[in-house]
Amino acid sequence: MNASAHGRRVAGLLLAAFVLVGCNETRELAEPPVVYADVEPILEEHCVECHSGPSAEADYRLEDYFQTIRCIPDPDGQPATLPSDPTAPILSVLERPDHAGLLDADETKGLTNWITDGAIPANRSTHPGQWNDPRTDVWHGNYLRETDWQPIVDPTRSDTCGLCHPGSPAPVDGIINFPPDATDCTDCHSLPGGVMSCGTCHGDGPRAYPPRDQCYFRGPPVGYSHEPHLEPSANNPRGLDGCQDCHFGQDYTMLDGTHGNGVVDVEFDPVWGPNATYDSETFACYTTCHVRRGTTPDVAWNEKDLNLDCNACHQSPPLGHSTLTCNTCHIGINPEGTILTIEAPHCDGKVDVK
Ligand code: HEC
Ligand code: HEC
Ligand code: HEC
Ligand code: HEC
Ligand code: HEC
Ligand code: HEC
Ligand code: HEC
Repeated sequence: MNASAHGRRVAGLLLAAFVLVGCNETRELAEPPVVYADVEPILEEHCVECHSGPSAEADYRLEDYFQTIRCIPDPDGQPATLPSDPTAPILSVLERPDHAGLLDADETKGLTNWITDGAIPANRSTHPGQWNDPRTDVWHGNYLRETDWQPIVDPTRSDTCGLCHPGSPAPVDGIINFPPDATDCTDCHSLPGGVMSCGTCHGDGPRAYPPRDQCYFRGPPVGYSHEPHLEPSANNPRGLDGCQDCHFGQDYTMLDGTHGNGVVDVEFDPVWGPNATYDSETFACYTTCHVRRGTTPDVAWNEKDLNLDCNACHQSPPLGHSTLTCNTCHIGINPEGTILTIEAPHCDGKVDVK
């Protein structure tokens, strides 16, 4: 299906939703689902005293909708409100001796119905009920992925988010009045850059790089090699400059060009060597960073717990090198050549000699 045909189908769905809102008879046929607002007072009265703030029990907070649907860290980071049946941790915990008796029968029934109805945030009708919950397949992120992000790129589409919401990356010219309950995107996407903040679609909040938040986006974490490159370490005291070191030549502030097209482009900054390449089949990195006649020349992006010491990429000192202490000639290194300091211009593609 081409993009515009997809657009029309989607617009049709949104319209159908509006017709339903207008048509009260249709709504009355089904029992309205129990929504977060119905259970919030129960959680507030019986749970929040122990499950709030920095020292919340089980590191689990019940202060608002998003905290309530999040994961409990132990034993394996399971979402508290899934699956949508009595085995969800938020319900099964009520059987335990230390939680039994906290809720009366009616309250237990209310909470149980909320879970089995899908832990819906609010009884709203413009969007699907679980539009806010990243673990369901009808949430807004999925919708945007499936529409190739066009509703936040193209303000002329009939389903463009900026038609009703302030804070969309693609505001619609001339729209200044919004439906009162259509939340500003930046109320939730409150980091600088709003929705286009890098952690919205990869990484986790202020952390721009993969892997994603493991509570919302479950599955094997991909991209864990990002951290050792981007965070300062013994071999890399300042961390790399940013994404452009390995994903070169793209403006990542927009979703145009090859950004966001579903293909991961790895192209090294030319300083890593004229022939620096990445093999996405084998995850192998052929760059001058590692291949310096050291003990570990072959590295792959998905190798876990690689412990690179000072002899891994080049030997210390390199073969045939001066035997004087390193700091005679190099900056930011101890005499023994075992520790680099924050001043070391290390792994910047240049050999720095003072
Ligand atoms: C008096 C303090 C207290 C109150 C009140 C309380 N909890 Fe807890 N909760 C704990 C403690 C302590 C733990 C961790 C020990 C455990 O797992 O039982 C815990 C753990 C949990 C867990 C994690 C269970 C797991 O599988 O790891 C959930 C979910 C939970 N509570 C939900 C609730 C809910 C819902 C309420 C309100 C109905 C509530 N708690 C009220 C103290 C409390
Ligand atoms: C009520 C809170 C809330 C509002 C309002 C909201 N979002 Fe989100 N959005 C989230 C959450 C939670 C996530 C999950 C990722 C995260 O934690 O940042 C998310 C993720 C996304 C993603 C990433 C999707 C993906 O698949 O990775 C996009 C894009 C996005 N939102 C766009 C928007 C736009 C555009 C608006 C305004 C029209 C908006 N959001 C309004 C809560 C919200
Ligand atoms: C035709 C108007 C309209 C369009 C277009 C629209 N929304 Fe909404 N949206 C609303 C209204 C009204 C609400 C609040 C009431 C409701 O959900 O029924 C809402 C609620 C939301 C919420 C939940 C906010 C909260 O506080 O719980 C999110 C998230 C959201 N929209 C994201 C989007 C995204 C992303 C797009 C673009 C794909 C979009 N909306 C397009 C009108 C619209
Ligand atoms: C609205 C969603 C969204 C936002 C916001 C976003 N990206 Fe992306 N980005 C993607 C998608 C989709 C991909 C393709 C890979 C994938 O599907 O995981 C991608 C891929 C990338 C890649 C891998 C190389 C490539 O081109 O495929 C880099 C680097 C990147 N993004 C950087 C950024 C930076 C930096 C920001 C913030 C300035 C940012 N992105 C914001 C959606 C987004
Ligand atoms: C040291 C090199 C390097 C740096 C720096 C780097 N990346 Fe990557 N990135 C990679 C490689 C290699 C892959 C491909 C992994 C694969 O093949 O699955 C990748 C994959 C990705 C993906 C796709 C998801 C995944 O893990 O497969 C995204 C999104 C991404 N990078 C974003 C970023 C962002 C955002 C930054 C900057 C904050 C960044 N990268 C910095 C090397 C790097
Ligand atoms: C007498 C001055 C001097 C001393 C002492 C010295 N170096 Fe060097 N080093 C150089 C010069 C000049 C270069 C650039 C030319 C070359 O590559 O040989 C260099 C280059 C290097 C390179 C890059 C070589 C490559 O593989 O491209 C490394 C790594 C290095 N030095 C490590 C060390 C370490 C570790 C020590 C201490 C154990 C040390 N050096 C001591 C002068 C010195
Ligand atoms: C990931 C591979 C790698 C590891 C591990 C590594 N180096 Fe290097 N080192 C390089 C590269 C590549 C260069 C060449 C210059 C550049 O790109 O900065 C270099 C250059 C040097 C130089 C020459 C001065 C300079 O910065 O150009 C010294 C001294 C040095 N390394 C010391 C160390 C010490 C000490 C350790 C252990 C703490 C270490 N290296 C671990 C890759 C590595």
